[in-house]
Amino acid sequence: MTKLWSPIKIGRLNLAHRLAMAPMTRSRALPDGTPGALSPLYYAQRASLGLLISEGTQPSDDGQGYMFTTGIYTENHIAGWKKVADHVHAAGGHLFIQLMHVGRISHPDNTPHHRQAVAPSAIAPGIQMFTASGMQNIPVPRALSTKEVQSTIDEFRGAAAAAIRAGADGVEIHGANGYLVHQFMAENANVRTDQYGGTAENRARFGIEVARAVAEEIGSDRTGFRISPGNPAGGLDEGPYGPDVYRFLIQGLAKLNLAYLHVLHRDNEEFLQEIRTAWPNGLLVNRAGRPLEKIAVDIDAGLADVAPVGAWALANPDLVERLKMGAPLNSGDPSTFFGGDAHGYIDYPTME
Ligand SMILES: Cc1cc2nc3c(=O)[nH]c(=O)nc-3n(C[C@H](O)[C@H](O)[C@H](O)COP(=O)(O)O)c2cc1C
Repeated sequence: MTKLWSPIKIGRLNLAHRLAMAPMTRSRALPDGTPGALSPLYYAQRASLGLLISEGTQPSDDGQGYMFTTGIYTENHIAGWKKVADHVHAAGGHLFIQLMHVGRISHPDNTPHHRQAVAPSAIAPGIQMFTASGMQNIPVPRALSTKEVQSTIDEFRGAAAAAIRAGADGVEIHGANGYLVHQFMAENANVRTDQYGGTAENRARFGIEVARAVAEEIGSDRTGFRISPGNPAGGLDEGPYGPDVYRFLIQGLAKLNLAYLHVLHRDNEEFLQEIRTAWPNGLLVNRAGRPLEKIAVDIDAGLADVAPVGAWALANPDLVERLKMGAPLNSGDPSTFFGGDAHGYIDYPTME
């Protein structure tokens, strides 16, 4: 018997089962970063997944990298997210807003202030990104001063408070996939000589301080943290001391008693086992592209407490019901993943 459908407590939340919705950027916000008019329905349609982790949402102007992503730092943003949270709650679900500061993965054409991006160090990622005028090289960012690192941490703190004001059940700090928190950890993006660079311990410091500030602000049991060890996204190379940075990070986060740690897992099984042993609270494990028949494997093996799913949740609003019945799944249409309108957003059919 699989444990997939058994309940679990994560932070303050009593979840009915072990599936969750993984964070997915959909690039359908209003130009000012307020969730669009269809977002409440999109999330509420998926409420049977229990814990919905939102699309990556910037905590400040500097935190934005892509066009039409959501923010959570103005009154408009709060009002927009409140509609989402209210709809999700009315449908019986829970909402964590993912706080995503992109750092250097940004282009002045995409941000409200059109300024140079900020990052641990002035090193370009060496990749391109989509802008209104098509694909462009990502320019060299500006290194944050030590004082500005503090104010960036405060941006996360303020965004977390705003998320709670909007009625969210908590926030997930995006420490994965090549964005700001991850940039601090990686050898080839962080050549700082202050207390945020150099040693493995120093590279882990920014993520821990962000988590501490957020947990102080809204409660550790409403704070989650996502990592993706070894992920080269955004031009990152963690270098030979990568695992050590994660050891310091996880040790520091464990002291904060967070609601959960969310691992976007690649291939290092031994390291995942080590994380499981080192992490005292809820562990979410998302294995990219795992086949359907493997969905409960980590839960049943005791390696994970919750299995977030991405693309299937996007394409199947009633994923839980379909899996329970063994019904076939809709497949997602990648051409409507990012940007656009209702199509590919709220019109994936349910079984009825
Ligand atoms: C359309 C799309 C948008 C995504 N946006 C985010 C994001 O904003 N934040 C994040 O941490 N991961 C993001 N991801 C990664 C997913 O959370 C997940 O890790 C990935 O899709 C692998 O899981 P899956 O095979 O179940 O889809 C995104 C994935 C997709 C498909």
